Amino acid sequence: MAIDRKAGPAGPRERALERGATAVAHPNIALIKYWGKSDERLVIPYVDSLSMTLDVFPTVTTVRLTPGEPSDTVSLDGAPAVGEPLRRVIDFLELIRELSGRIEPAAVDTRNAVPTGAGLASSASGFAALALAGVTAYGVDLDATALSRLARRGSASASRSVFGGFALCHAGRGIGAAADLSSYAEPVPVTDFDPALVIALVDAGPKAVSSRAAMRRTVETSPLYQAWTISSKGDLLDMRAALHRGDLEAVGEIAERNALGMHATMLAARPAVRYLSPGTLAVLDSVLQLRADGIPAYATMDAGPNVKVLCHRAHADRVAETVSGAAPGCSTVIARRGPGARLRAEAEE
Ligand code: PMV
Repeated sequence: MAIDRKAGPAGPRERALERGATAVAHPNIALIKYWGKSDERLVIPYVDSLSMTLDVFPTVTTVRLTPGEPSDTVSLDGAPAVGEPLRRVIDFLELIRELSGRIEPAAVDTRNAVPTGAGLASSASGFAALALAGVTAYGVDLDATALSRLARRGSASASRSVFGGFALCHAGRGIGAAADLSSYAEPVPVTDFDPALVIALVDAGPKAVSSRAAMRRTVETSPLYQAWTISSKGDLLDMRAALHRGDLEAVGEIAERNALGMHATMLAARPAVRYLSPGTLAVLDSVLQLRADGIPAYATMDAGPNVKVLCHRAHADRVAETVSGAAPGCSTVIARRGPGARLRAEAEE
């Protein structure tokens, strides 16, 4: 539906179409990881995953329709996006245009408070924010499940950043359209559990191998991959029970073994995918030392060298001090559970 400019004062929907929409989303860190896709085009994960959305490093994304322009334009942290990042955003906008029935291109402005591509889940906050700003700008009304399903098409972990607190992403059942329909995230109600997650920034540079390429190589060549997907099912059951009890030690132990298992599958890929650096291992040693000293602290790592350490809030400063001293140049940020994706009101802009 085109905007009729002679029809008197614009309503909120028309104003959104003209002015665009801005959304804010936060990264999440998986306590039970997703690694590997059964369908790359539809972005269907092989395994269920469970994460905590953080209260740090938001992505703020504005999408504005630009009728009359020849194509989409994308600005990433103030510079025009090119290559693969540009193509991923344009492909995602195509999905939203299909849903909306509109054909206008859009201008996208996205800003990350986290270094992009360093395994700190910028794609999770990025595609969650883009999904919400995009559907709003194009006038598509989606419920949270459908929004999460859409965000998954950008990046499976983004499906979880639609929600605050803890979220479970279903791997989905079947193939094709059935898998697409059944793969989405939903909140996991957890009442008495509000830990700290100390993010140890070992190296904030972009990763050497994209997670897409690394996943494909792991699935296709790692003899350990199937074993990990099976053990991950048990980890998820144990994790849900531990979260329900608010048992930090159990949550941490399960998260740590699940993450190390995922990295083991990558190390066994041919050729190996190795995101863990000497700095990562030094931080892991310091986490073991903290435990030996009676401080419950547990590590998890994603597609990059940085380490996230789960601990009680009361221990967060001590944990941050210890891990930042473990590796040269290592800095830390203390995060807690954070909110789901939301639209930013005009007054906040
Ligand atoms: O969704 P992607 O492509 O950013 O991959 C994320 C994979 C991990 O961060 C390693 C695990 C996860 O579940 O977030």
